Amino acid sequence: MRLWDEVAATVPCLLEYGDSPLAKTAQRFYEKLKKTDYLQTDCVSVCKAVEHFAKNLPTADQAMNMGKLAHLANRAKMGYFPTDLTHVERIKEAMIFPEEEVNLIDPCCGEGLALKAFANGANAITYGIELDEIRGEEAAKRLTRVGFGSYFHSRISLGAFQGLWLNPPYLSAPSENGNRRLEKAFLSDSMRLLQNGGVLVYIIPFYRATPDVCRVLCENFRDLRVHRFVGKEFERFSQIVFLGVKAERRKADRQAKKLAEYLLDPDRIISCLCRTTTIILIPRTTDWDFRTVICSSIYGIRISNIITIRS
Ligand SMILES: C[S@@+](CC[C@H](N)C(=O)[O-])C[C@H]1O[C@@H](n2cnc3c(N)ncnc32)[C@H](O)[C@@H]1O
Repeated sequence: MRLWDEVAATVPCLLEYGDSPLAKTAQRFYEKLKKTDYLQTDCVSVCKAVEHFAKNLPTADQAMNMGKLAHLANRAKMGYFPTDLTHVERIKEAMIFPEEEVNLIDPCCGEGLALKAFANGANAITYGIELDEIRGEEAAKRLTRVGFGSYFHSRISLGAFQGLWLNPPYLSAPSENGNRRLEKAFLSDSMRLLQNGGVLVYIIPFYRATPDVCRVLCENFRDLRVHRFVGKEFERFSQIVFLGVKAERRKADRQAKKLAEYLLDPDRIISCLCRTTTIILIPRTTDWDFRTVICSSIYGIRISNIITIRS
């Protein structure tokens, strides 16, 4: 079992590194290993296959390839991959907004273009947070309220939002327990901002939908669906979008495992949003009688903003 998992875990790493042929090989190898009956099979041949596979893996002393360079360039701009606006429109077509006002938040809003387009025409108050000051200034022109600084140094009321737009940076960052992926960190933390029944839009490269991410999604959201982006956007950034409705947390080990396996092969993912299934956004609950605030600070030093959410 450990061996299968280790081989499956190389797939996202190879895709991020930019070696899709080897990632495909790893995936096929994983499928084979899964079906291997270790009690019946000659162990020597399995060991040889593993050895052969391991020899093909890139090592630190190899010259960098273009994929690696692109990854480093991404890091330099803090993972800024704004959502393509045509895709925002497609995602919006899968939603029905209520007539009543809703609170929408993008905890890493870039220039605010995606959230603005998503909320366009709806009765919505839009909240964003952005680490990059220049992008944050741009977002402030488009969204109702913007907090400048890191989302992770912000204080935001839990359960105050009916919609969460989340296209996080595709990066890892140092943390107390070693490096952590920001795709998962943003998801695990910011889903608590949604009220139960609130809607999540979560956009990541398909190879970042690792088993731990799938577990968070399956345990905390119902009516979960996933679509892949189309055309050039998918070719360049391999993005998929999850839509789900926030629910009470429950165990979902089997679903999470199945979802993670399904997502290893992007060809299986439905390639555009299906217009027949819609998610209905619920109106804001009216019994909020306290003032909810976002305090955003840069690196924990400067309190740059205090935002009051209308409740
Ligand atoms: C992939 S872009 C998405 C932009 C926008 N949400 C969209 O959908 O177009 C991620 C953004 O997260 C910002 N970012 C990175 N780390 C952040 C943090 N800790 N807090 C807030 N924003 C952050 C980056 O500067 C970048 O603008």
